[in-house]
Amino acid sequence: MNIMTEAAAEAALEKKMNTVPLKMVGKDVSVYYGEKRALFDVNLDVRENTVTALIGPSGCGKSTFLRTLNRMNDTIGGCRITGTITLDGEDIYDPSIDVVELRARVGMVFQKPNPFPKSIYENVAYGPRIHGLARNKADLDVLVEQSLQRAGLWNEVKDRLHESGTGLSGGQQQRLCIARAVAVSPEVILMDEPCSALDPIATAKVEELIYELRSNFTIVIVTHSMQQAARVSQRTAMFHLGNLVEENDTDKMFTNPDDQRTQDYIMGRFG
Ligand SMILES: Nc1ncnc2c1ncn2[C@@H]1O[C@H](COP(=O)(O)OP(=O)(O)OP(=O)(O)O)[C@@H](O)[C@H]1O
Ligand SMILES: [Mg+2]
Repeated sequence: MNIMTEAAAEAALEKKMNTVPLKMVGKDVSVYYGEKRALFDVNLDVRENTVTALIGPSGCGKSTFLRTLNRMNDTIGGCRITGTITLDGEDIYDPSIDVVELRARVGMVFQKPNPFPKSIYENVAYGPRIHGLARNKADLDVLVEQSLQRAGLWNEVKDRLHESGTGLSGGQQQRLCIARAVAVSPEVILMDEPCSALDPIATAKVEELIYELRSNFTIVIVTHSMQQAARVSQRTAMFHLGNLVEENDTDKMFTNPDDQRTQDYIMGRFG
């Protein structure tokens, strides 16, 4: 039997990864908040049906980069972006792009679970309704059930669909927000530290879910937890002071990173 050298194994992995289609491509992305520059010419590919983790010390630009992917930065006064970002080859900053439609294709889950003060059912039904994804009530019922199933929440809430979403536990609320995000059939889901407000059991549930969701969605997740990045992602990108330091296969990133700053960060030497 052939025993592969480490370098050969890496090359084989790289080759395999290179066959995965690119869902989103960021080229020379820079972001400014007024005079302050928060990102410096970031080049980062997001591969299809892959979980990409963004890591790095606080303030390094992870959330800023994540928000460029569905133009959430547009809502921040004084924020300016240069460079290009494409989704399936199409420039998402082109003036012809409908931002509402873009955000349906590239959905987002936030750090703090933020269900609407409405029923569990309405939280999930809202998006499909405004985007006209259901023809009638029966259709909508199916979509709500499917979304809650996908978010691993259905069994816990099926008998209380008309109770308020805000009455759920934190972990359930976050899965409700994930159900709300998947209900409009996005292609990409962005998650900014989705587990940081959750206890370890709820975190484990959400992590398991993220890992499974990648068969249907492309996921980009910001996390401060190295363990979480290692558990849920296949690719990891390390940011430092607004620069993308390294982007690599997750296993390699955590065992044998190319950049000293990555090594220092994952060893807990800074950040
Ligand atoms: N709305 C804003 N206005 C001005 N500056 C901002 C704004 N949001 C972020 N910044 C600045 O941009 C830089 C990157 O911030 P960002 O929130 O992207 O970092 P982060 O990596 O997500 O950090 P954390 O891990 O703490 O969430 C920081 O210097 C921050 O102060
Ligand atoms: Mg952040």
